[in-house]
Amino acid sequence: MTTQALAADLRDEVVVVTGGSRGIGAGSARRFAQLGAAVVVSGRDQAAIDAVVASITSTGGRAIGIPADCTSQEQVDALLAGTEGAFGPATVLLAFAGGDGRPEPITQLDASRWCAVIDTNLTATYITIRTFALGMVERRRGSIVTMSSTAGRQPGGASVAYAAAKAGILMLTRHLAVDLAPNGVRINCIAPSAIETERLVQNMPAPAREQLAQSFPLRRLGTVDDVADSAVFLATAQSSWITGVTIDLTGGRITG
Ligand SMILES: NC(=O)c1ccc[n+]([C@@H]2O[C@H](COP(=O)([O-])OP(=O)(O)OC[C@H]3O[C@@H](n4cnc5c(N)ncnc54)[C@H](OP(=O)(O)O)[C@@H]3O)[C@@H](O)[C@H]2O)c1
Repeated sequence: MTTQALAADLRDEVVVVTGGSRGIGAGSARRFAQLGAAVVVSGRDQAAIDAVVASITSTGGRAIGIPADCTSQEQVDALLAGTEGAFGPATVLLAFAGGDGRPEPITQLDASRWCAVIDTNLTATYITIRTFALGMVERRRGSIVTMSSTAGRQPGGASVAYAAAKAGILMLTRHLAVDLAPNGVRINCIAPSAIETERLVQNMPAPAREQLAQSFPLRRLGTVDDVADSAVFLATAQSSWITGVTIDLTGGRITG
């Protein structure tokens, strides 16, 4: 499908992006808006949300911002209501909110840290999907993309809580794909390795980033555009006979 045809295709889509206030989610929010969709940018930091919305609307795109902590059912209910009030029912959900995968040995990972990381990633994804999927099932229309990580595929530098949460998101996706398919709703997952976001650039000096880039067979880090490309593919009719899969964005590093 050409970019022009895809843009025409996305004009009727209402896309909700959790984790849309920065990094990977912000990049995908901008991409869907460029392709003509109406986009709801969500996160917890109002100033960051406003900046992403402004970057979209200033170039003629359609976007609003609605803050929500996705670990709170009440706040995600408000996100749903705000979306429907502004643009109508969501047709695409990018459940990308998450993070906090910093290395923590099990000896230092107490139960409160374990629960916090599981909640931020796995429980937040469950609450978000359940809230939006109910209406999608009724309307028999919807496409959901979840956000895992290479950490959910194989042991690495991230904490075990983050790895377990991201592995949980993989199975949540596969399980729900089977549940939701008869109702015309698809759900797929993206599992990236190192994506060069503002956060990565801030936290890792350039020489370390270059060394990390060289460790991938394709000899570069991933970009937010790489993630947006996969999100567009998985969320749209381009992948209409695909549900329950995970795209590993790993620069050629084999995971599984
Ligand atoms: N960057 C990578 O290399 C990489 C690799 C694999 C997977 N991932 C995953 O990709 C997603 C985005 O990561 P990123 O690198 O773009 O991180 P980031 O720049 O730190 O952004 C994280 C986003 O998630 C939101 N968020 C976190 N907890 C939330 C909660 N409880 N409720 C609502 N929103 C919440 C943040 O909102 P606020 O900042 O507004 O609070 C922000 O928009 C995460 O799920 C992460 O685990 C990233």
